Amino acid sequence: MKKILVIGSAGQIGTELVPALRKEFGNENVIAGYHNKIPIDEIKNSGSMEIVNALDKQGLENVVKKYNIDTIFHMASLLSAAGEKNPDLAWDVNMNGLKNVLDVAKENKIQVFWPSSIAAFGPTTPRENTPQTTVLEPNTMYGVTKVAGELLCNYYFNKYGVDVRSLRYPGIISYKTLPGGGTTDYAVDIFFKAIQEGKYTCFLKEDATLPMMYMPDAVKATIDIMKADSVKIRTSYNLAAISFSPEEIFNEIKKHIPDFIIDYVPDFRQKIADSWPKSIDDSLARKDWNWKHTYDLAKMTEDMLINLKKILD
Ligand code: SER
Repeated sequence: MKKILVIGSAGQIGTELVPALRKEFGNENVIAGYHNKIPIDEIKNSGSMEIVNALDKQGLENVVKKYNIDTIFHMASLLSAAGEKNPDLAWDVNMNGLKNVLDVAKENKIQVFWPSSIAAFGPTTPRENTPQTTVLEPNTMYGVTKVAGELLCNYYFNKYGVDVRSLRYPGIISYKTLPGGGTTDYAVDIFFKAIQEGKYTCFLKEDATLPMMYMPDAVKATIDIMKADSVKIRTSYNLAAISFSPEEIFNEIKKHIPDFIIDYVPDFRQKIADSWPKSIDDSLARKDWNWKHTYDLAKMTEDMLINLKKILD
């Protein structure tokens, strides 16, 4: 990793990945690719930015050549709920964007990171401690693109030797940039509403347990897998930290904000949550490249509230 391009630098993960990469590899060596939305000031003011639409292969190739890029983090994607509202767009952005990135990587000897998700699993997958190798029959378009994407990455590794690495992210919780269009987004919204309004209406049921992770852990996993000398899995590694339900996170926030109240009005996203695992077996990530998470529910909640209060006050 000498010259890095992050596609999707204004997104939830890109917003925090770019500064972490710049800190480790140098401001001048990390190019922030963005498309619809401008990245935050911290990114704007600390290094180069370029417009990169993964659907425009020539434009992507131009940026790769301009900076002599050797590593791409391809973070641009439509999430689960957004994908159900516009399945055609989800297929186009998630699949054709990835195919362009892999083709440019093949032609320019570039190492690639691409995120998969717990959405690759579906209603027929075992839901507790979901194994690495298991049934992948998702019922969302987002999930379909994640399974197809995993297979495409594996194909490009085997056929063309592209060094592509991937993680099945759980729901990611953060405060710098809001996630958009996901089913796990409630676990971010709840913190904003707890501080701003003291009450939250949750779009999932109180017992909808899902695998989750705090952003610093997600960023660390993303950089660590790319730095690993070698990896054994070229589809995508299971990755886990914590699992909790809306009721459990509500109770944890209530320890800090005792008057906080919640009600539950599940919508179409409950069906998506019902099709995903409750907990994930990520022992291969822990064994193959020493993955270890830092934040449990209590530690994450405390950190989220401290940082969000600073932003919102
Ligand atoms: N956070 C994503 C979503 O809810 C899952 O990968 O769509």
